[in-house]
Amino acid sequence: MNQFQPRVFSGVQPTGNLHLGNYLGAISRFVPLQDEMPTIYCVVDMHAITVKHDPAALTVATREVTAAYLAAGIDPKKAIIFNQSQVREHAELAWIFNCVARMGWLSRMTQFKEKAGKNRENASVGLFAYPTLMAADILAYRATHVPVGDDQKQHLELTRDIAQKFNNDFAERIAELGVGVPNPAPSPELPGELFFPLTEPMIAGPATRIMSLRDGTKKMSKSDPSDLSRINLRDTADEISKKIRKAKTDPEPLPGDTGGLADRAEAANLVGIYAALSGRTKDEVLSDFGGQPFSVFKPALADLAVEKLAPMADEMNRLMAAPDHIHAVLRDGAERASAIAEPILHDARRICGFLERR
Ligand code: TRP
Repeated sequence: MNQFQPRVFSGVQPTGNLHLGNYLGAISRFVPLQDEMPTIYCVVDMHAITVKHDPAALTVATREVTAAYLAAGIDPKKAIIFNQSQVREHAELAWIFNCVARMGWLSRMTQFKEKAGKNRENASVGLFAYPTLMAADILAYRATHVPVGDDQKQHLELTRDIAQKFNNDFAERIAELGVGVPNPAPSPELPGELFFPLTEPMIAGPATRIMSLRDGTKKMSKSDPSDLSRINLRDTADEISKKIRKAKTDPEPLPGDTGGLADRAEAANLVGIYAALSGRTKDEVLSDFGGQPFSVFKPALADLAVEKLAPMADEMNRLMAAPDHIHAVLRDGAERASAIAEPILHDARRICGFLERR
């Protein structure tokens, strides 16, 4: 039903300690898409200030996510790479969406409940409105496809709800101004002309979720107090090997197929990491390693992880040491991003009825 020009948008928060979960769940998946359709990859620094932050660290982390994008193989000539705060249309559209989204919708967001914790009264208004800014990120470009991890599914559903409500609330106005895109399948839920697309989520299945190396039931996380729980994207080869050697396991040898991984969270995680890094399925990995003890599997995994990740760490360190290239990429990206978002916001303002400068 989408008559919108296909376009990918995704974002990563610059919060420091980029790790293997960020790479396998998000960044590595962005790379092949750049050859399939127009792509926009954002460093969402405005989202990073919804919780308490250190300003100097935010600046560094913004460069670091950019370095990771580049080191992972995103080509800034094909994809647009930029940081969110440089393109003011994000903030502007987020305000309009704050007036479209309902308190009830946002109150149901599980990420807000988790991040706000018990003391909701003390959470920032920005943390509550986080999902409307995310919707604005996507819809300021009328993006049709959004690759994210499965933890972002609820936010993407909200993005569709916001697009749908905007399209419906202003249906007459959109038609009158002639700024809509024909909807080939009008329904009671959606009018014949749409201003915003209903974005397709491209969710990485829970199978690709990377868990802590110390506890296979918890997600790998930048905020885990134990650095042994995660492989950071800038870890050295020695650190990577050590963390895999020390990863928690059980005493059994590996099973012959994925059925045998049920109830073995740590084994499943390590096999999943091997599969993701080698581009094979878990069953393929187990057909090679089934029956082998971890004393055989772990060194093989360590070699693979070092082979794939160490060159990326080197490239990130090289880019970070002389950040001129990073800055040039972000400036060029911001200009190209603005060129797309400006006319869309111009129309969005007219739809709302804001009087223009005359
Ligand atoms: N909320 C996303 C995350 O935590 C980051 C994000 C912000 C994003 N804006 C986005 C992802 C737009 C995709 C599209 O992972």
